Amino acid sequence: MSAEFDLVIRNAKVTTASDTFMSDIGVIGGRIVQMGVRLSTGAREIDARGRTTTPGGIDAHCHLDQPIAPPAKMSDDFESGTRSAACGGTTTVIPFAAQQKGGSLRAAIDDYHERANGRASVDYGFHLIVTDPTPEVMATELPALIAEGYSSFKIYMTYDDMKLNDGQILRLLALARTHGAMAMIHAENTECIAWLTESLLDFGLTAPRYHAASRPMLVEREATHRAISLAELVDVPMLLVHVSGREAVEQIQWARARGLKVLSETCPQYLLLTAEDLGIDDSYEGAKCVCSPPPRDAASQQAIWAALADGTFTVFSSDHAPFSFDDDQGKKPRGREVAFPYIPNGIPGIETRLPLLYSEGVLTGRISVNRFVELTATNPAKTYGLHPRKGTIAIGSDADLVIWEERSVLLTNSMLHHAVDYTPYEGRTLGAWPAYTIARGDVVWDGKQFLAAPGRGRFLPRGLPTMVARRPASGGVR
Ligand code: URP
Ligand code: ZN
Ligand code: ZN
Repeated sequence: MSAEFDLVIRNAKVTTASDTFMSDIGVIGGRIVQMGVRLSTGAREIDARGRTTTPGGIDAHCHLDQPIAPPAKMSDDFESGTRSAACGGTTTVIPFAAQQKGGSLRAAIDDYHERANGRASVDYGFHLIVTDPTPEVMATELPALIAEGYSSFKIYMTYDDMKLNDGQILRLLALARTHGAMAMIHAENTECIAWLTESLLDFGLTAPRYHAASRPMLVEREATHRAISLAELVDVPMLLVHVSGREAVEQIQWARARGLKVLSETCPQYLLLTAEDLGIDDSYEGAKCVCSPPPRDAASQQAIWAALADGTFTVFSSDHAPFSFDDDQGKKPRGREVAFPYIPNGIPGIETRLPLLYSEGVLTGRISVNRFVELTATNPAKTYGLHPRKGTIAIGSDADLVIWEERSVLLTNSMLHHAVDYTPYEGRTLGAWPAYTIARGDVVWDGKQFLAAPGRGRFLPRGLPTMVARRPASGGVR
């Protein structure tokens, strides 16, 4: 007798953003077609008894093979980046197609498709980065691209080759409102950073740790408040990316309490690293943790954990920005230990994002496993127009699943599958790792081996966002 299903997951403790229940999961053609008890046979069967099954993770903020100014070059392309994602339980990634100043958005998209095509092993969409909002971009290119499935774009308030002024940001927010797109904002005050950087360098303070001193909480707090005000003026939802600490969280809670549609994202580095990881002396090792905004202090870590638990944050992403340490295209440009403003910004984390949050959040009781699913899969899918195809476990959804094994794991870079030569979390002991990652019904990671071929991942044109900001349940800043 031939099998009814391509794959059956038996005895799954199915965990969604809202519920936990026991069920078998029947998969045909990469989709979930039946759930219930005692399903008929599958060509392949996996027993998930005693383990938790969650939706595959969606990493809605990662950088893969993003063209940047030489000599810097990202270590991960779509092949190594999506391999690493899959081995850590992520089945969908949304990296960024960045417009070059003076170039078109369409050219950025075409180039990025070439970079991804035939290389990705999990499904992928693209955000846009708008660096040059010319009349052509505003009138024609951006509206057309939103309609074609690139329904979110990032706006930078800092970085000389990326930043936009308040007038440009207002016009882009108005465009997002007209076309239903999601604007993502990198909020740091660029003039404050420039002045602080100049002053530090004048005093000869060049070590990696001064990166954190050049971008204190205040510069993020001010820009966060300004971004919120610009969005309030236009009356449009927007999402603040990589929120790092207490004062920015307070601004978001203040905005929510006023009924503003402010969504927000945080990342593992703001839960688990502090400014001390950039160095307590002038050692260049601290370059490994140079990212923007920088990790803050222990009090800010606690504020970020609290905001993850209380519903303030909408999504939890890696902000994987893969620059190797011992690399003349990475953290040591042209082979040299450079002053902090010249260290490529960003840290790797596409594979460790989910195991870190599962271990440090769910297993410690800081967040429920349902909230874990909401932050890492369901809300990213709703925020970026992929729900319900992605981000949940339901009949009709893609069979993107993670079966978790709770066991002690000593994290070392040698066990990871990215092309970066370090992890900032080296030597930590985790309490869980995916036993299986299943992407559209294919087992792409079986707990030991990566099993997918480059090119199995498909491009995902995305719909419009369906996520709505919620008011704080209680205790928000008023
Ligand atoms: O330092 C970071 N976060 N690098 C990646 C680029 C960005 O702004 O997200
Ligand atoms: Zn950013
Ligand atoms: Zn980023």
